[in-house]
Amino acid sequence: MSPPICQSTAFEFPNTEEGARRAADIHADEFYGRWGSRNEREFEAIIAALEGAEDAVSTSSGLAAISMVFHALLQPGDHCVAVHNCYSESKILIEELCKQHSVELTMISSEDIENYRNAINPNTKLVYAETPANPTITLVDIQEVSRITKEQSDAIFVVDSTFATPYNQQPLKLGADIVLHSATKYIGGHSDVVAGVCAGNKDLMSKVRKAFSFHGPKLDPFAAWLLCRGVRTLGLRVQKHNENALKIATFLENHPMVNKVYYPFLKSHKQHDIAARQMTGGGGMVCFEVKGGMNSGLSLISNVKLNKMAVSLGGYSSTITHPASMTHNLLPREEREKGGITDGMLRLSVGIEEVEDIQADLENALNQANLVTN
Ligand SMILES: Cc1ncc(COP(=O)(O)O)c(C=O)c1O
Repeated sequence: MSPPICQSTAFEFPNTEEGARRAADIHADEFYGRWGSRNEREFEAIIAALEGAEDAVSTSSGLAAISMVFHALLQPGDHCVAVHNCYSESKILIEELCKQHSVELTMISSEDIENYRNAINPNTKLVYAETPANPTITLVDIQEVSRITKEQSDAIFVVDSTFATPYNQQPLKLGADIVLHSATKYIGGHSDVVAGVCAGNKDLMSKVRKAFSFHGPKLDPFAAWLLCRGVRTLGLRVQKHNENALKIATFLENHPMVNKVYYPFLKSHKQHDIAARQMTGGGGMVCFEVKGGMNSGLSLISNVKLNKMAVSLGGYSSTITHPASMTHNLLPREEREKGGITDGMLRLSVGIEEVEDIQADLENALNQANLVTN
């Protein structure tokens, strides 16, 4: 039932023909450790099945998955369109990669579909989006961006679907070419493994696997084993995340100390129609803004107990982050504000605890915090 963990870095070939066969097969799981073991292949097969993909490639982190996709698909002189309102380190990585490899980069805001229409040209080779976006929960209409991408270029459309999980959103079925995840989050689900994964058709994944086999950002077999164990309860966990997060978002929306709540399945979300079309659940991520800016945000986050003050997300327990000072602090304030990240904004990863406990902790913190209301 539970597969053994394969720690071996080398494998004895039964004969010369088999040695040559494995050397020629980039998928081989018993050739050389850097190419991957049966544990990584098992994890990749699960993700491919969940995303409706032909193949998947696992990596040692979510950022490594982004990096491998960019290395595999872009050449000097190509053009790339990416969104600036996404996870800050993804944005920084994309800017660095494009600069280092002489790829022309157009950074757009994902909020307005016209930005894609204006940015994509016949030389565009990669279009990158993250939906829902970290931390602002801004959505990208996957079907529409796919249509525009295909009309105006032969670019590959890549979607970071980390916040949604394959349970709530399947970008390939909506026209994306590659879906990727920080598997560190919901896919692992237990806050005990850093990993990434991307999925798509065989041809694209072979290109990514080739880049991967040279660069070598591989998963450890034990990490792959933990991911296989974690992902088996993805559906159950995400159902509970969806249920809890909607209740918490509704509670926050009605709280007098809260200015604004961002959650895709709240009717007040300005892209709720997109969420209703492309997501089957709102996910576990809720972003909200308390009255009074930075001081209020920091004061609130200092007063929570059950909701742990931590930067990661997607685990079984609830965590809360202050993006302006914690996850997006590498960006200057003007950049943050351009991406919709305000000083009083908090990002909550609603866990699978009893929702009454999560709510009581937030209510207590909202009451105790020294919120500046003017
Ligand atoms: C949406 C999103 N994509 C990618 C990443 C990067 O993943 P990792 O930290 O596993 O490298 C993160 C990390 O927080 C993220 O939130």
